Amino acid sequence: MIKSKIAGIGRYLPKTIVTNDDLSKVMDTSDEWIRERTGIQERRHAIKHKETSTTMGTAAAKIAIERAGITAEDIDFIIFATLSPDYYFPGCGVLLQRELGITKTEIGALDIRNQCSGFIYGLSVADQFVKSGMYKNVLLVGAEMHSMGMDFSNKGRNVSVIFGDGAGAVVIQPTQEENKGVLNTKLHSDGTYAEKLAFISPGSHGGYHADKMGADTDFGFEKDKPFASIFGTQKMLDDDHFFPDMEGKFVFKLAVTKFPEVINEGLKDAELTTADIDMFIPHQANLRISQFVQKSMGLRDDQVYNNIMKYGNTTAASIPIAMCEAWEQGKIKDGDLVCLAAFGSGFTWGSALLRW
Ligand code: ACO
Repeated sequence: MIKSKIAGIGRYLPKTIVTNDDLSKVMDTSDEWIRERTGIQERRHAIKHKETSTTMGTAAAKIAIERAGITAEDIDFIIFATLSPDYYFPGCGVLLQRELGITKTEIGALDIRNQCSGFIYGLSVADQFVKSGMYKNVLLVGAEMHSMGMDFSNKGRNVSVIFGDGAGAVVIQPTQEENKGVLNTKLHSDGTYAEKLAFISPGSHGGYHADKMGADTDFGFEKDKPFASIFGTQKMLDDDHFFPDMEGKFVFKLAVTKFPEVINEGLKDAELTTADIDMFIPHQANLRISQFVQKSMGLRDDQVYNNIMKYGNTTAASIPIAMCEAWEQGKIKDGDLVCLAAFGSGFTWGSALLRW
């Protein structure tokens, strides 16, 4: 039976380290406040106007491609997960194709907009394509440049202290080896609370969901005014609708419920238990969320990998960055049972179980 496996993995973190003390110079916050609630000590910020989600994704992809023992020309499908794309459109998939110098047009490029669970969704899509025999070398990238889209004033401090920039990538190939490859992926969504963790503009909503946004219903749209388009209105700019918004406590409560649920679903399906997990890599949302999940699932410290302390929350990039780092440190070995899980905006969540 054909399964899909991770044949190569890479990561890229920008060089600039931004500590909690650095942030406290531009907003009213403190190292103590951030560490206590999120576990984050520092994060990376990319070089503005020189680095983008695509360039960081490309750097990670080159390493993954080399480690898979192939060249960029061998890639037959690209999946790019990000919530911070270079352009409103086209997506980063084709930009990455160009950056990698892939000129052949027989390949496809797909962009995934599933925020924190983007990598798990991408892995699930790649798994189906590879298992069906349609593609042999799928490049899956998660990359984020949050530092370009955050409000670093006091108004945005509950969000901007959490997120960081970076990228991770994997090459997915078919395998017939018995003790290797993706065992299953589980995906879920619930749009009821879409606005609880959202970046609503620019967009085509034109104020349509205003009651759900918990906002003033007058967004200042004026008929036939060119500015009253997906790019929004002056009023929306003034009201800060161009930054991410999060109801932190609501997100926390749902995340710590959905993580264990979806992990157990995958384990049950594979007839395995938490004791069988060699390495659990949660989406690096918040160290407190990861610790809560670890405790409720009865996992030991050596079964869980966290690096949010160093990089903050890098959304779609957090799982491949953490998985790559754990593997580089020898914490994931051949044959190990690796469990990945994510929860995020949408809400969407999912898990993946794989034999390394
Ligand atoms: N520094 C200092 N004070 C702050 C900061 C900051 N960076 N941000 C907010 N505050 C203040 C608020 O203004 C508020 O002050 P007030 O009481 O005078 O009004 C106070 O701190 C409490 O604000 P809350 O927003 O209620 O902060 P909370 O204690 O809920 O902590 C946090 C916020 C850390 C986000 C928390 O809700 C949480 O852990 N949520 C989980 C969600 C999460 O981590 N999401 C990550 C991204 S989403 C994902 O990946 C799934």
